Amino acid sequence: MTKIAPSILSADFANLQNEIIDVEKGGADYIHVDVMDGHFVPNITIGPLVVEAIRPVTKLPLDVHLMIEDPDQYISSFVKAGADILTVHVETCRHLHRTIHAIKAAGIKAGVVINPATPVEMIRPILPDVDLVLFMTVNPGFGGQSFIPEVLTKVKKAATWRREDQLDFEIEVDGGVNTSTARLCKEAGVDVLVAGSAVFNQADRKLAIEEIRNA
Ligand code: DX5
Ligand code: ZN
Repeated sequence: MTKIAPSILSADFANLQNEIIDVEKGGADYIHVDVMDGHFVPNITIGPLVVEAIRPVTKLPLDVHLMIEDPDQYISSFVKAGADILTVHVETCRHLHRTIHAIKAAGIKAGVVINPATPVEMIRPILPDVDLVLFMTVNPGFGGQSFIPEVLTKVKKAATWRREDQLDFEIEVDGGVNTSTARLCKEAGVDVLVAGSAVFNQADRKLAIEEIRNA
């Protein structure tokens, strides 16, 4: 069954605890946390303090998406704060292999994220080392943007490599996921759908999650 990871970027930040409880009750599989630094992406969001604050609120894995320059500097802070999965952009890592292994050595899952315009070949050498590959289906920085369908060609390639090389990373997509684009993602081989506005902008989160999962 396809996993759903609601992105709290579109949640009511003044009411974050209840928002998280609501999507957990609604059947979410992960809580997706978007960390932005105003440098790598043109927006600033949250850091380890907020991750630490929401940690006791849910039993779900915290899927922490780092859209920051020099992620190495912050790995231990996010691990201590309670992240279960840390994903780093290939575009931000000078020594991607080192960064991925630093995350795994800290005892949590490591993932690599790739922007829409970055060739998928860039991540092929790291695939045996990661637990998850996150394909951005929008340019990172904001919720509520439109899905870029060309990314699915890259998803399909990664799914083929995974099968051929007998690897076992999860494939996740992030950006513009709704009931119509979710279907295309599943056909391409996606395991985890991040959805921000499509979940939190609906009054009934359980229904929103079910509709995306069953799309
Ligand atoms: C965008 C973030 C996403 C964002 C997705 O940079 O990485 O996780 O919250 O929002 P939607 O689902 O509204 O496109
Ligand atoms: Zn994200």
